Amino acid sequence: MNASVSETTSASVSEIPSASVSLSAFVRICADNIISPIDDRLYSSFIEHMGRAVYGGIFEPEHPAADTQGFRTDVSEQIEKLRLSHIRYPGGNFLSGYQWEDGVGDRAARPVRRDLAWFAVEPNQVGINEFAAYCKKIGIKPMMGVNLGTRGPQDAANLLEYCNVESGTYYSDLRRSHGYEEPHDIKLWCLGNEMDGPWQICAKTAEEYGRIACETAKMMKWMDPAIELVACGSSYRTMPSYGTWERTVLRHCHQYVDYLSLHQYYQNSDGDIPSFLARSNEMDSFIKEVAGICREVKQEKGTAHDVFLSFDEWNVWYHFQKAGIEPEKWTIGRPIEEEVYDFADALLVGSMLTTLINNADVVKIACLAQLVNTIAPIMTENNGRVWLQTTYYPFLYTSLYGRGTALAAEISGPVYDCAAGSGISYLDCAAVLSDDHTFLTLFLINKHLSESLQTAVSLPGFTPLHIAEHITLAGFSLNAVNTADASPVLPVTNQTVAGQMADGQMASDRTDCRLTADRLEISLPAASWQMIQIAIM
Ligand code: AHR
Repeated sequence: MNASVSETTSASVSEIPSASVSLSAFVRICADNIISPIDDRLYSSFIEHMGRAVYGGIFEPEHPAADTQGFRTDVSEQIEKLRLSHIRYPGGNFLSGYQWEDGVGDRAARPVRRDLAWFAVEPNQVGINEFAAYCKKIGIKPMMGVNLGTRGPQDAANLLEYCNVESGTYYSDLRRSHGYEEPHDIKLWCLGNEMDGPWQICAKTAEEYGRIACETAKMMKWMDPAIELVACGSSYRTMPSYGTWERTVLRHCHQYVDYLSLHQYYQNSDGDIPSFLARSNEMDSFIKEVAGICREVKQEKGTAHDVFLSFDEWNVWYHFQKAGIEPEKWTIGRPIEEEVYDFADALLVGSMLTTLINNADVVKIACLAQLVNTIAPIMTENNGRVWLQTTYYPFLYTSLYGRGTALAAEISGPVYDCAAGSGISYLDCAAVLSDDHTFLTLFLINKHLSESLQTAVSLPGFTPLHIAEHITLAGFSLNAVNTADASPVLPVTNQTVAGQMADGQMASDRTDCRLTADRLEISLPAASWQMIQIAIM
């Protein structure tokens, strides 16, 4: 069992609260119905110079757990468990006013500036070098952004030269003079951030951005042909220019970029939970629409080059805004957007992850936004404790067990209508076949708030052996939260003592979950998230 899994509480199945069983669903997962291999970068996150994400989050030199560079090891331990592929940095909206040179060289000599994106003071004590070294230490790659708000192509090329050229040029030698002999070799770059948003420092029209993205991309790829570039899509699906923006930008820069970004945060501002939980369907439509535009432009251009999707900001985001909290401006680590996530939020995060897996053919990068303190699964107290939000757990287990190849999960079962749409399936499911073909892992969410779902999963083409892991988040009130003092919302590792195959039947001591020679039968409690890893032959 993975070390992270042992953190979960254990309980027998009978201890899990269950509702009356009156609904049933059927899922078919066929071994040859392949969506796509899942790109490891689907499990990435984001740290912006925003709120206490950096100062007071990952970096707090005065903290007893800080390493010699000032980074909190108690925080990095929780990050490491998530097995992230990449961390997007340094923004976000912050990026559009950032002058990267402020954050390199002698720390004592670095300028202190006003950050106009978040009305905070930026001390520049963490910059490109410290962040790249931090990522290297914890085994994660940086996904770096270039400022296309106040700056442009030349600065982007300079930064790339600083990061990736070994030596013998002005910026590579400057890096070496700053104590970093080895290039950072950063291969994934964002061409600005949300450039369509009026809130953005130096926002642009689609034409303006398309042109500058094209010219910046050309220079960057000439500087280092091995990099990959992400162009900005719309800031969210309901932006007035959504669709037109994507087409216009891609018409300008299609041949020079590799990914187009999508951003989306969902809110539960009116307490309508069924509609809130249905938002993963909207995410699915959003992905399919943007993928369609990428295909259209590809066809228009008559090229073999594909532009895939980078869903590089996704999450739930609303409580903090609703509370109307307005921390004092012009402070370092201004504590903005410190959401406290509840159990309903964890369910939607789980569903959004299944949506990403089910679209793994087009979504190659996805960043949970963000990682520490600011709309984040990991929280810290200044000079104090670190604690984990409800949303940490579905992300953790999907990242740990959702690697391999996505298989189509054909669902037939009950649906509901709500403000967010009609015909919404109560059941969400994603299926992942491990690369060595020894495990089939299912992620299952029952969105029904009061009824359990009796679910039969048929597995044609597989020979199931036994259930290797079964982790559940269920039985909590929808508004239950974790805090620094108490963590009631914890996953449960269900005890499985699977028997051996006998007369074609798989014995199991489970009451809610039964594996036979060709199917899994499971009762999914109302409002629940589950991960079931089945050993297969
Ligand atoms: O992630 C928080 C903010 O949300 C980012 O800075 C911005 O890109 C988005 O609007």
